[in-house]
Amino acid sequence: MTSSTSLVPIKTSKDLRLLRQDWRNPVGLVPTMGALHEGHLQLIRHAAHYAEEVVVSIFVNPTQFAANEDLESYPKSLASDIEMAQLAGATQIFAPNVTDLYPNGFSTYVVPSGPLVERWEGRSRPHFFRGVCTVVCKLFQIIQPTFAIFGQKDFQQLQVVRQMVSDLDFQIEIQAFPTVREEDGLAMSSRNSYLDSEERKVAPLLYKTLQQAAAIIQNKPKQNLEVLSQTLTSQLNAAPQIKIDYLSFVDAESLQPVSQFNGNVCLMVAAFVGNTRLIDNLLIQT
Ligand code: PAJ
Repeated sequence: MTSSTSLVPIKTSKDLRLLRQDWRNPVGLVPTMGALHEGHLQLIRHAAHYAEEVVVSIFVNPTQFAANEDLESYPKSLASDIEMAQLAGATQIFAPNVTDLYPNGFSTYVVPSGPLVERWEGRSRPHFFRGVCTVVCKLFQIIQPTFAIFGQKDFQQLQVVRQMVSDLDFQIEIQAFPTVREEDGLAMSSRNSYLDSEERKVAPLLYKTLQQAAAIIQNKPKQNLEVLSQTLTSQLNAAPQIKIDYLSFVDAESLQPVSQFNGNVCLMVAAFVGNTRLIDNLLIQT
């Protein structure tokens, strides 16, 4: 239920813990870094279907950014985020300061390892999953949700969080939500606001290429996927402004590269469009 008064964000983990005692389960959590768009809002609406209490966390998590990344310039719009989240069904906003989650002397991190993080985002951004797992673990401890929703847009993040929940025995159900796209296919992202008008025009090529690959595989399932990924990479790199970081067919469970279609493949791509790094993926399943 949405109320007519504006939600007042909860600013500290101490306040949240106190309030949590009175919330009835199920409690749903949608972790975000703010700059909310329709993709985030669909996750919130989905949570509101299943929970009386829907907590949206808004926290630009410094530990998942490297020094050369966009922590300082990451878009911030707390007031409108709160309004949009509330309209979508959020009943609580948790928007702590950096010092609340990372006080002086903070020194314990959750560091995922193994095949799920060795490649893709884990290789290109070595600090990234340590930051994500640490903050998600803290949010889980503080909020104690019944379930938490993550977007398939960040497919590797979703799998890494699932693995952490299993490895560290969290009693929290992880739900996946399909990627929400603009009309021209571009996956919604807070970082799309960095694109200038020319870059915005070429960015949908990423998803078009993923769809093209899915069609090729449907027609010719025996296709060698390593060869196909090289062809698609060259095709995309030939477009103005696009520079592929990785484009690969992986097993959708293990995230290891596959050269043959096995019925459950994810085609993952990361690319710079101008100076903006975008990621997208497409599940190709039988
Ligand atoms: P953020 O990029 O704000 O995304 C928050 C959640 O929204 C993530 O689960 C993400 O996968 C999902 N999401 C983003 N764009 C989406 C889209 N177009 N369609 C569907 N879901 C989408 O991901 C993070 O923040 C952070 O790493 C976080 C998990 C909050 C930890 O700091």
